Amino acid sequence: MNESNMENEKTPLYVAFSTQKGGVGKTTFTVLAASYLYYLKGYDVAVVDCDYPQHSIAGMRKRDAEQVGADEDYKRMAYEQFTRLGKKAYPVLCSSPEKAISTADEYIDGKSSVRCPLKPSDSIPLCPNNPAH
Ligand SMILES: Nc1ncnc2c1ncn2[C@@H]1O[C@H](COP(=O)(O)OP(=O)(O)O)[C@@H](O)[C@H]1O
Ligand SMILES: [Mg+2]
Repeated sequence: MNESNMENEKTPLYVAFSTQKGGVGKTTFTVLAASYLYYLKGYDVAVVDCDYPQHSIAGMRKRDAEQVGADEDYKRMAYEQFTRLGKKAYPVLCSSPEKAISTADEYIDGKSSVRCPLKPSDSIPLCPNNPAH
């Protein structure tokens, strides 16, 4: 990816991290890249989790939300971060490699029904001070 790919902010750019081999950093690098682009660079970002059927990034999001919801300090930090950023965490959409592009396009078109089955309260900002992140 380079800056010229992203000059037109209305044109979606699809970025895939893929390899057959497990344990090489696909999940880690996806979350880091998405967070960098969304939180630091200000781009609209959606993660399409193609790690079917375990959907590990969606699972991480769910655990994060549960942990924040169960702790007053984390709730306060999440609220402060949400307020400071003026936006919630980027969406994590469950899909499969075959359907990834259509999943992303459905989301972009605003008619997505493919969000992972998480509670609305899961759409919280991730908290950088949370040791789980
Ligand atoms: N650049 C890295 N350096 C060291 N450890 C890493 C790095 N990237 C990922 N890991 C660790 O390697 C393990 C597997 O990473 P993960 O992102 O789950 O891989 P994958 O999604 O490809 O299966 C995790 O414990 C993760 O923390
Ligand atoms: Mg993974």
